[in-house]
Amino acid sequence: MFSIDIYKERRQLLKKTVGSGLILLLGNEEVGMNYRDNTYHFRQDSTFLYFFGLDKPGLAALVNVDEDVEILLGNEPTIDDIVWMGTQPSVSDTAALTGIHQVDALSALETLVKKSFAKGQTVHYLPPYRAQAVIKLSEIFGISYAEVQERASVKLIKAVVAQRSYKSAQEVSEINKAVLVSNEMHLAAIRYSKEGRTEKYVAGILEGMALSAGGNIAYPVIYTVNGQTLHNHPTQNQLKKGQLILCDCGAETAMHYAGDLTRTFPVEQKFTALQKEVYEIVLKAEEAAVDALKPGIRFLDVHHLACEQLVDGLKQLGLMKGDAQEAVSQGAHALFFQCGLGHMMGLDVHDMEDLGEQYVGYSDDLVKSKEFGLKSLRLGRELEAGFVLTVEPGLYFIPELMDMWQAQGKLKDFINYDKLAAFRDFGGARIEDNFLITENGYQLLGEPLIKSVADIEALGRI
Ligand code: GLY
Ligand code: MN
Ligand code: MN
Repeated sequence: MFSIDIYKERRQLLKKTVGSGLILLLGNEEVGMNYRDNTYHFRQDSTFLYFFGLDKPGLAALVNVDEDVEILLGNEPTIDDIVWMGTQPSVSDTAALTGIHQVDALSALETLVKKSFAKGQTVHYLPPYRAQAVIKLSEIFGISYAEVQERASVKLIKAVVAQRSYKSAQEVSEINKAVLVSNEMHLAAIRYSKEGRTEKYVAGILEGMALSAGGNIAYPVIYTVNGQTLHNHPTQNQLKKGQLILCDCGAETAMHYAGDLTRTFPVEQKFTALQKEVYEIVLKAEEAAVDALKPGIRFLDVHHLACEQLVDGLKQLGLMKGDAQEAVSQGAHALFFQCGLGHMMGLDVHDMEDLGEQYVGYSDDLVKSKEFGLKSLRLGRELEAGFVLTVEPGLYFIPELMDMWQAQGKLKDFINYDKLAAFRDFGGARIEDNFLITENGYQLLGEPLIKSVADIEALGRI
């Protein structure tokens, strides 16, 4: 945890921004994997962590803005809990850790919320993403599951986003730690990529490194020869010399701040001429996008700039033609770059995605597009100092998509469909790094991680 004062100040600011009513924040519960007592690893809700820092299941909080009262709700440990899990703190000891002095049983939640209702208070809650929370809110408010989502408080969402978007120095330092561990994972990924090993074997080592560093993986490891599949997961596939691996993995620290890096490299260990050409197009696009990072620029425009760089490169490869700007404005690049250039990062790898991408990555004046390609751009808004984000251009050769567009003759003024055959088995390439937006520009988080063709080829395999 950070110091108690940080959590108190965060809650003070939240109360001030929300202005009135009752704020209900639910912590996460354990979730059974194959039966109740065999649970997935516990992950606390990130907003709950942000405002309370309490990293255990079975908690909820009520912040009464009108009366300036904060209550932590939880269940006192039973003797059975102690027998199975060891000595447990009382709810009031837990609450004291975050500067709260009023506690109640979790079972009192419904009654307390109903009392507030009876007094005419507005009750604010965030959109739930877990079934248990949906059910709990549905029971408390006596509304359907669909209504639970609809009635989430936009005022509270906006207030939380306004705070969590700007990372403090302590948060940046945590993210930096996460990126440093992620760097080590990527060096290992390149070094362990040898013929005969399976994707799972290497991915397991990477996951273990995140755990050994004291935290966990920030998201499931992507380590695959099928890099064209955007979020592909490792299989028992045996690696062959010269295959191109796309590895996207990152650690989160014990305090749950994330890192999110991608490197693309060949198994033992020279790029083919074509792999090198494609890779260097992506690298150039990443460099151009990073160079443009500064407060005041819209990330949507940085995304477009990266897309134009990709199109320029694809023109040199012979896959695209015509004016790059025009190609991008018509969405032709999306045949090869179907997703967005990056996203906010913090306590979540896609920071605050549960609160809604429109609120996190866009603004009242900038609405998220529904067009193929742009609909996956999670961040479009003007950048501000204190934002932490990823930059992650890529080129992905998806046979089914190429076939579909070709059959439709889609945007054929920009695409040389007759040249695509050679790329059906290429896979994909992505390069991803993490940045803090500063007053004057940007700062790379972690240490620079190798990414030139020469450096990747020179790194010894083990
Ligand atoms: N690791 C998921 C992403 O890059 O967005
Ligand atoms: Mn990412
Ligand atoms: Mn990633």
